Amino acid sequence: MGTISEPEFDTRYGEERSTKTSLIFALNEEAVGSLSKALQIFEEHGVNLLHIESRLARQNKTDHEFYVECDNSRGGIVEAVKELRQRSKYIHILSRAHKALQESVPWFPRKIRELDQFANRILSYGSELESDHPGFRDVLYRKRRKEFADIAMNYRHNEPIPRVTYTEQEIQTWSTVFRELTQLYPSHACKEFNNIFALLIDNCGYSENNIPQLEDVSQFLRDCTGFRLRPVAGLLSSRDFLAGLAFRTFHSTQYIRHYSVPMYTPEPDVCHELLGHVPLFADPDFAEFSQEIGLASLGAPDDYITHLATVYWFTVEFGLCVENNERRAYGAGLLSSFGELQYCISDKPAIMPFDPARAAIQPYPITSFQPVYFLAESFKDAKEKLRQYAMTIPRPFAVHYNPYTQSIEVINGKEQIVNMFRLLRGEMDVLHDALKKLELTNVLTN
Ligand SMILES: [Fe+2]
Repeated sequence: MGTISEPEFDTRYGEERSTKTSLIFALNEEAVGSLSKALQIFEEHGVNLLHIESRLARQNKTDHEFYVECDNSRGGIVEAVKELRQRSKYIHILSRAHKALQESVPWFPRKIRELDQFANRILSYGSELESDHPGFRDVLYRKRRKEFADIAMNYRHNEPIPRVTYTEQEIQTWSTVFRELTQLYPSHACKEFNNIFALLIDNCGYSENNIPQLEDVSQFLRDCTGFRLRPVAGLLSSRDFLAGLAFRTFHSTQYIRHYSVPMYTPEPDVCHELLGHVPLFADPDFAEFSQEIGLASLGAPDDYITHLATVYWFTVEFGLCVENNERRAYGAGLLSSFGELQYCISDKPAIMPFDPARAAIQPYPITSFQPVYFLAESFKDAKEKLRQYAMTIPRPFAVHYNPYTQSIEVINGKEQIVNMFRLLRGEMDVLHDALKKLELTNVLTN
């Protein structure tokens, strides 16, 4: 198998074709005869070879690897590379910025309604629990989980999220978690979180004795930042989950953890979502930061999806920020964990300044406290750094979210750039007018 995988292909981008591509690969077959097999693959797909070299592989001196320069003027390079991957120990595309290969962009949703397609792409479903899950032997709990999974599976974009009548036992679990965590928030959570938490108590039924309804919370978020919740039946792939963020949509669970261990859950549940994630999606800078990760993921190669999911882990899930020279938590994994919330601001873990390129490759455990956290100066600063990092992702286009149509615009040609420029000029005129009326025009000239 090759080292880079591209599960789905989309050839909608750009008419221009550059015709040269360079590759290095080593076939699975023995050296004898492997060159002729490689030549056959290119020939079958109508790809002419301009240059070919055979040499001993640097990784393993018993293998032969081939360096080839191809002429793709007849357009079969994508298929040839797909076939080569299946028959190769490894394949490296040296001219990755090459347009011909960049046309092989993984599918991504263009309209918010297309998120409906993710509902059936979950990695686990409802009552399917692992044997070490606290609710594994509880038949009633599993039945209940199936009910929540069905709500999510039947949900379609723009419908109200069905309200749930939580049982006394479920509310009891929520109460324990709510009581313990809210004690820590004033001293451990960032100020943006604490400010918004008070609003959620006032507007969305957040209280010790009530589990808020996703629909009410989603409406509140839409009013604040345009973010919305969408119920999800199980775990999504990183690519699908991140794509939701590009549309300011957060896939949220609705079920609650098992009552037997209220302070522990092996997976996201409604306590994690409502207490950990929701408050900051109502903050404009954090909402923009989250959407930036999502936009960067659209059409990105698989290896970059892994990097972006890791950046998400160290920010949206386990991020720390500075406030009055003190460390404060803003990550949902911290804000929904009584133990780790105290640990993360102690002197035990290692702390590094937030740098997306560095965070993207940091290994992390998923079943224990994090040994390393990344500290952001502010959400604004984190957003700026992420934007710079996103520009290093190899894509043959830029993307822009159009909030009026709730769709992704692919910017890959002169026409789209001119349209975007017109839009910006309109906004600049409004800004100029406002500054003039406030007699602040010198802001523009200084
Ligand atoms: Fe989470």
